[in-house]
Amino acid sequence: MDLLDKIRNNAKKHNMRIVLPESLEDRTLEAASILLGDSIAQIILIGKSEEINNRAVELGLQNIHLAQIVDPESYEKMDAYADMMVEIRKKKGLTKDEAFVLLKNPLYLATLMIKAGDADGEVAGAENATGDVLRPAFQYVKTIPGISVVSGAFIMILPDKSFGDNGMIVFADCAVHPDPTANELAEIAVMTAKTTKAIAEMEPRVALLSFSTRGSAKHEMVDKVRTATELARKMAPEFMFDGELQADAAIVESIGKKKAPDSEIAGRANVLVFPTLESGNIAYKLVQRMAKAEAVGPVLQGMAAPINDLSRGCSVNDIVNLVAITANQAAGK
Ligand code: ACO
Repeated sequence: MDLLDKIRNNAKKHNMRIVLPESLEDRTLEAASILLGDSIAQIILIGKSEEINNRAVELGLQNIHLAQIVDPESYEKMDAYADMMVEIRKKKGLTKDEAFVLLKNPLYLATLMIKAGDADGEVAGAENATGDVLRPAFQYVKTIPGISVVSGAFIMILPDKSFGDNGMIVFADCAVHPDPTANELAEIAVMTAKTTKAIAEMEPRVALLSFSTRGSAKHEMVDKVRTATELARKMAPEFMFDGELQADAAIVESIGKKKAPDSEIAGRANVLVFPTLESGNIAYKLVQRMAKAEAVGPVLQGMAAPINDLSRGCSVNDIVNLVAITANQAAGK
């Protein structure tokens, strides 16, 4: 059984409540129908029942009647959610009137449902930009205690099975935090190790990448990666981290042996942590296109509850998969 089948089957066992705030977006509605039909998750849609049901009929979708539909205009919890928002953002001076205005935006309402325990996770982004999906999540769901940054991992499934674990290798951060400090990079490495274990079901061997291996180049950017490696080891001694390593030293055994002979990870890394978002985002897209890898994600990590952001070019299948991943994250929380 491949990884995505496993993830879908596992999601079925847990029957989590996943909110899809972009409820009138056709691919999202189609995915919702598949998810409900296959019992992968309970689905919550935000909007007017009549509009959602009419669109489902137009699209020929069979299962939308199984979804819970939350209409912001009549939902009985709006007042309580507005109070929660004012409390959470009191230092920022948010008023209750402003909270009601924000709650009209389904992306805010979805995060408040999660915060209040009325949903277990959220998937959005088929029609909204990353920042618009993430900002409400950052502000109201926030990060896991002890973690200050959210980041995004991709599980790369390569046709060449000699890399990582049988061709599977996890990349991060490819999606969220542009320029991490050493401490933030260490957090990203730790969270990626956890994602690798929980979602990809691999024992993580984490390489923190740079343009230098073991001091072959001297630069403050290299120092940052080395410091991050030391911090990650202290934060999560249960996992294996090594850095700074160049990409070839991390994934090619003969080069790893030559450049870092004492390393347990060099040449056999199954997790690659990139020093900046630029390098991570560029790397995953190049590997996806040039090596014809399947890129599963981004799986957002570090958030106090699972909220995942789709690419606007996503397919129905991508949405189904990301909901299944989100349900797995929610179950493991
Ligand atoms: N983790 C946790 N919280 C964060 C993070 C983070 N990585 N970044 C910002 N925040 C918090 C801030 O602390 C702030 O909280 P506050 O309002 O309580 O003070 C809030 O989020 C807003 O912070 P801003 O600095 O105003 O952040 P902004 O909303 O401008 O930007 C964003 C955040 C949108 C995620 C930005 O970092 C960004 O654009 N990142 C790149 C996203 C992207 O384009 N990725 C590539 C495409 S995705 C792909 O290809 C798969």
